[in-house]
Amino acid sequence: MNGVSNSYSAPAEPCVAAGILLGGSPAMQEVFRLIERVGPTEAGVLLTGESGSGKELAARSIHERSPRRGGPFIAINCGAIPAGLIEAELFGYEKGSFTGAVRAHAGVFERAQGGTLLLDEITEMPLDMQTRLLRVLETRMFYRVGASAEFLADVRVIAATNRCPLQAVQNGQLREDLLYRLAVFPIQLPPLRRRADDVEVLADHFLAGLNAQSRTHKRLSALARMTLKQHTWPGNVRELKNCIERAFILGDTTLELAPLIHNGAPIRAVDSAGDRDRLSIRVGSRIHDMERSLIEATLDYFQGNKRRAADALGCSLKTLYNKLNGYSHSQECANS
Ligand SMILES: Nc1ncnc2c1ncn2[C@@H]1O[C@H](COP(=O)(O)OP(=O)(O)O)[C@@H](O)[C@H]1O
Ligand SMILES: [Mg+2]
Repeated sequence: MNGVSNSYSAPAEPCVAAGILLGGSPAMQEVFRLIERVGPTEAGVLLTGESGSGKELAARSIHERSPRRGGPFIAINCGAIPAGLIEAELFGYEKGSFTGAVRAHAGVFERAQGGTLLLDEITEMPLDMQTRLLRVLETRMFYRVGASAEFLADVRVIAATNRCPLQAVQNGQLREDLLYRLAVFPIQLPPLRRRADDVEVLADHFLAGLNAQSRTHKRLSALARMTLKQHTWPGNVRELKNCIERAFILGDTTLELAPLIHNGAPIRAVDSAGDRDRLSIRVGSRIHDMERSLIEATLDYFQGNKRRAADALGCSLKTLYNKLNGYSHSQECANS
């Protein structure tokens, strides 16, 4: 864990997978600072960031920093629940309240009592449920489906999305009033390509965990360490973690990564000398990856100024926005 100047233990239980949110990069230090401030409060938090960037782990860290840490932490993915079942999943139901309800069921609002509830992929929640959720957040009371008695919602709600929330409002996927209710305190998880210094630290951390589990001493090859730096990690920390795990299974003593990485591997946004105005691109790069890296590096170079980046790239501002939307770059969205 070299170079990590700040980290939080995620709760050991009753959460599922414990983990430690790591990162020494300035971008993660800012995230830690925000978690430290908001953790002990009751404020709602909206976590944004690309898939795999650590939103769920950040939510667990917030829970662990709060007076609710002794209570449950429950995470549900709103996008994974069929629209017809989401109300029952959130608020529970009474026996006989609909066909198939053979016994009463406690929803996540009940199961998370005294603790924290993470509503992941909040923009995927049907709009009518968003209206009901807003009412529950305002009144702190809810009904099980088919019940006449109200329950007190003693729950801290954290929401997460990998979309740009403002754009989700514009697209009619997220109610604006719910956004402002949820996002009392917004936290943006930076994509892994914006915290290049953390990649090796994270890789070593995941490898150390695997070595400890299997009582082995496997190591990354020198080439694997170069690959770590060259890959742009579009799947963020999740991709890195899975990649290390695959290499660990495949390798006996010295682990290689290059054969395991297919997409975007040959591109490094900033060359090894750290010049912000250079891209080094390996032969064999996919055109799509090359274009994306060029756009990202240009935006970085112009410090996020899209008009100047579009001028330099020789495309219209609209085209640049369309490309960025295509990459679902919530970071740029939030900053614009
Ligand atoms: N900063 C970090 N330090 C250590 N592990 C991390 C970090 N960020 C993410 N992870 C790990 O990467 C995986 C994906 O993180 P997760 O929180 O589920 O991302 P998201 O919810 O944004 O998709 C998880 O296994 C998580 O434990
Ligand atoms: Mg997630």
